[in-house]
Amino acid sequence: MRVVITGAGKGLALELLRLHSFNGDTVYALAHSMTDELKRLSEQNTDIHVYLMDIKDEKAIVNAFSDISDASLDTVYNVAGIWCSDQSVGIQDTDMSKVRDMLSVNAIAPLCVMKHSKRLLKRGGIMLNVSSDFGSISEYERGDNYGYCMSKAALNMAGKIFMNETKDSDIRVYCYHPGWMRTQMGGEAAVKSSESISPKESASALFELLYKNNSNISGMFFDYLNKKREW
Ligand SMILES: NC(=O)c1ccc[n+]([C@@H]2O[C@H](COP(=O)([O-])OP(=O)(O)OC[C@H]3O[C@@H](n4cnc5c(N)ncnc54)[C@H](OP(=O)(O)O)[C@@H]3O)[C@@H](O)[C@H]2O)c1
Repeated sequence: MRVVITGAGKGLALELLRLHSFNGDTVYALAHSMTDELKRLSEQNTDIHVYLMDIKDEKAIVNAFSDISDASLDTVYNVAGIWCSDQSVGIQDTDMSKVRDMLSVNAIAPLCVMKHSKRLLKRGGIMLNVSSDFGSISEYERGDNYGYCMSKAALNMAGKIFMNETKDSDIRVYCYHPGWMRTQMGGEAAVKSSESISPKESASALFELLYKNNSNISGMFFDYLNKKREW
């Protein structure tokens, strides 16, 4: 397979990269910075092609994709994301510049990746947007996290429109809630909690569903337990 993974330096994206690399796949890894682990893996495997960029930079995305020949991609994973932990606050304390940052990285950047990778996806290819349970309007009952929740709800909408637009091209589009993971984003609380999961567990669950058990995926918006999530 040939896949694109954004945010590939760490966390869930790095675990997806490991799985694809182990599977013998070609990986176009769009990463913010060259982490030690990404460097090690890409030095060991010439089928991992690393492009360092700020995912908000449309030109950098276009340049990376110019190396890919037409309609040869099996899957595009939009994984890069940010969470501003000081924004778990109500509206009075919400910092609009951080709301803009989260919308830019979590919603507009993946839309840009969708735009420029559409022509490169094979028939039957997959657009996998990593969303969050916090992007579910009907499930969210808290009075905080405006920016992050808005960004993931917007990403879900982008995925839905993309699915409507590409239905004749046989492209599969999904929004994936990866669970509360013990990553940089999950933070200290995830490390201490028995309710969190490792990014490796989440990546393995997703990989299994997408490539070995895809007829059983429970809906367009699903989670690491293959539970259908509500919009
Ligand atoms: N962790 C959770 O509990 C959780 C729960 C629900 C959903 N999610 C979603 O799952 C996805 C992966 O999360 P994770 O926990 O693996 O996060 P993570 O460990 O913090 O990794 C996020 C990745 O995104 C990259 N990134 C952030 N801003 C970027 C930018 N402007 N340009 C390029 N890359 C950028 C980061 O690079 P740098 O660090 O170098 O900036 C990093 O490689 C995210 O979309 C997140 O919203 C996570």
